[in-house]
Amino acid sequence: MLVTGGAGFIGSNFILYWLKKYPQDKIINLDKLTYAGNLENLKSVEKNPGYFFIHDDICNSHAVDLIIKNYQIETIVHFAAETHVDRSIMDPSPFIKTNVEGTYVLLEAALKNKVKRFHHISTDEVFGALPLGSKTKFDETTAYDPRSPYSASKAGSDHLVRAYHTTFNLPITISNCSNNFGPYQFPEKLFSLAITNLMEGKKVPVYGDGLYVRDWLYVEDHCRAIDLILEKGVIGETYLIGGLTEDIPNIEVIRRIIKIMGHNEEMIAYVKDRPGHDRRYAMDWRKIKEHLGWQPEYSFDQALEKTIAWYKNNQNWWKDIKTGAYQEYYKKQYQH
Ligand code: NAD
Ligand code: DAU
Repeated sequence: MLVTGGAGFIGSNFILYWLKKYPQDKIINLDKLTYAGNLENLKSVEKNPGYFFIHDDICNSHAVDLIIKNYQIETIVHFAAETHVDRSIMDPSPFIKTNVEGTYVLLEAALKNKVKRFHHISTDEVFGALPLGSKTKFDETTAYDPRSPYSASKAGSDHLVRAYHTTFNLPITISNCSNNFGPYQFPEKLFSLAITNLMEGKKVPVYGDGLYVRDWLYVEDHCRAIDLILEKGVIGETYLIGGLTEDIPNIEVIRRIIKIMGHNEEMIAYVKDRPGHDRRYAMDWRKIKEHLGWQPEYSFDQALEKTIAWYKNNQNWWKDIKTGAYQEYYKKQYQH
């Protein structure tokens, strides 16, 4: 199996999950190690004979072709991407390059080398925004309406993956997932930023009125869903993956984190809103439940407690990240 972007948040959780469940399997992790890639996430498997790391760029067509050919790759699970919406607003160019062109390079190599399965990891953000207060949810038939450079680049990659199936018969599956949280998440995303800021005695920045809604999913539940799609998913199909939360606004999420961590509301700082900020996401994941038997195992509160405990017990992991280039990004984004 070739995993792209395996040194990132979900990719590394997936590799750890997979090698624990299928110790006989072999995984090649191809990762460029951008600011978001961190081999510390995979320390526990670096000596595992079933795991091998290759430091390269998915846009390098020569390298990608050689890796797939030489390692006789059967399955590709494609996580590699630029993933942070705020960074895509600062500079869209790496998003177009990696998310669109990188996916194209992988598709070409997969086709040429007759890969048996190309599983593409995508996002609910390709569907745009739902109105606040409505009960509507995204499902597999929702029309694409991306509204940030990040989501537009992910939408572009999804269209390419489907086109390679329709036109060239490449055996693909796609999953569009909602917001993940859990261990090893780069501390630029809401959960990891809020938890680590609080541990540093810093306030939690809340964009705009804080009444934005995301559909929160614990990362391990996402990994289990990908596993099931690889095992039982139908070629050419798309599966939506979401959590158990019913419209919890960001401000409420932050209040819960603050309470568990023993702080008070003085730690909330309302800051300038994100341009084009999508109001609400909600996922209807009945298809994957009915067809493949998946559903989340962790309640939101259980997963939140586990996640906070992980960041408390792994302070060196995030303290090493929150230095140098991270501080510059933080200043630029939050104007401190
Ligand atoms: P992340 O930002 O934590 O990690 C991305 C990884 O990709 C990093 O290891 C990085 O080094 C690598 N990478 C970036 N550009 C590369 C390139 N050109 N070549 C090789 N490697 C490269 O991302 P994540 O949050 O783990 O997201 C993984 C995937 O899941 C992405 O495709 C993202 O769009 C999708 N997704 C994420 C979420 C979420 O909540 N985090 C939700 C739905 C979908
Ligand atoms: O929905 C899936 C997507 O979730 C993934 O495709 C993306 O890769 C991932 O980055 C994530 O995107 P979001 O923009 O939804 O996640 P983020 O953690 O950046 O923000 C979550 C919500 O919290 C959003 O409404 C913006 C808000 N927010 C975020 C940050 C970083 C704040 O209020 N303050 C913050 O400091």
